Amino acid sequence: MKNILITGGAGFIGCHVVKLFVKNHPDYKIINLDKLTYAGNLENLKEIEGYSNYEFIKGDICDIDLVKDIFEKYSIDSVIHLAAESHVDRSITNPFEFAQTNIIGTLTLLNQAKISWQDNPKDKLFYHISTDEVYGSLGDSGLFTETTHYDPKSPYSAAKASSDHFVRAYHNTFNIPVVITNCSNNYGPNQFPEKLIPLFINNIQQKKPLPVYGKGENIRDWLYVEDHAKAIDVVFHKGKVGETYNIGGFNEWKNIDLIKVICKVMDKKLCREKGESEKLITYVKDRAGHDMRYAIDATKISKELGWKPSLQFEEGIEKTIDWYLENTEWLKNIISGDYQEYYNKQYNLR
Ligand code: NAD
Ligand code: DAU
Repeated sequence: MKNILITGGAGFIGCHVVKLFVKNHPDYKIINLDKLTYAGNLENLKEIEGYSNYEFIKGDICDIDLVKDIFEKYSIDSVIHLAAESHVDRSITNPFEFAQTNIIGTLTLLNQAKISWQDNPKDKLFYHISTDEVYGSLGDSGLFTETTHYDPKSPYSAAKASSDHFVRAYHNTFNIPVVITNCSNNYGPNQFPEKLIPLFINNIQQKKPLPVYGKGENIRDWLYVEDHAKAIDVVFHKGKVGETYNIGGFNEWKNIDLIKVICKVMDKKLCREKGESEKLITYVKDRAGHDMRYAIDATKISKELGWKPSLQFEEGIEKTIDWYLENTEWLKNIISGDYQEYYNKQYNLR
């Protein structure tokens, strides 16, 4: 029996982690703490609402009193911490919110773990979910390993890097049992349509321009979100305390090539003429400080813990597109709210 606090469980990756843990581990009690910002959506968790080992709490990870109450009321012995502000473009327009949630929020959780666990750290675990962006940007060659020096370049990655440092500092100074994973770009169902793949699927559907930053030559390493959730399950159960594991898809794509794949699949699915969606590609002003290339070396988690991605990209992208085409209500509910205002400010496109 474990009492696990999962933060950010109503977001994109969090909802897949919560669903996996609730369904696969009926002997664990899962408490999902989420503020339900623009990115949090309880629709993502409909299928587990009635499970007796699951409870949702709406609240802020920066709220010291609330976090204390949760640790005490539920005798929390593990934390899987995903709550964060996660979109790089938003961090450029509002860095303070990123420092607050990603740094102060993490510190609030860590400090309560220290208070609750310091006298008896046995069988406790603070699992911090981080990103490959903390390592900075790669040139044409090389991969991020667990020993690559931190070199964050956006307000988002700077805040995530800072939170990683606090997690390691609490391990070193107060003996809090921690583990950190740094993952590459996720894609799949339930991702908020501000990120590249769902944004472009939505725009193609609506025949709107596809805003490609710069020349579209930046490279990302893509992992299907359910494979990330499985990796988190593996690290939670088999990871060594104090260690860091990189998680990646062994799947690098130049943005423009990936966009063309999405266009091709969408033309087929929507019975449009070949090449129709590609005509929507519109090159726009580059993202400020745009990192050129991320690529993860996931050898350590694969060798030591036996995790590997299960899906090929071609299969993953079809599944993702199918999900968005089948879940038009989910998408409609999002884009009918504040989303339009964000979109117009960010892109200034029709
Ligand atoms: P997301 O933006 O989709 O979801 C974030 C969730 O956190 C939302 O449900 C939101 O309501 C919640 N939240 C935000 N601020 C909060 C607060 N103060 N208190 C409580 N809840 C709050 O993010 P995501 O893409 O699912 O990312 C989840 C985690 O994984 C983040 O820590 C992110 O840095 C990391 N990560 C993401 C990716 C990716 O490709 N999306 C890759 C690697 C790592
Ligand atoms: O690498 C892990 C990170 O991946 C996570 O930590 C972040 O939370 C997640 O948002 C993601 O960051 P990116 O900035 O790589 O993802 P995004 O989907 O915003 O952009 C992917 C690439 O596409 C990037 O090179 C920028 C480009 N892009 C993005 C958008 C939204 C465009 O060309 N046009 C766009 O409109």
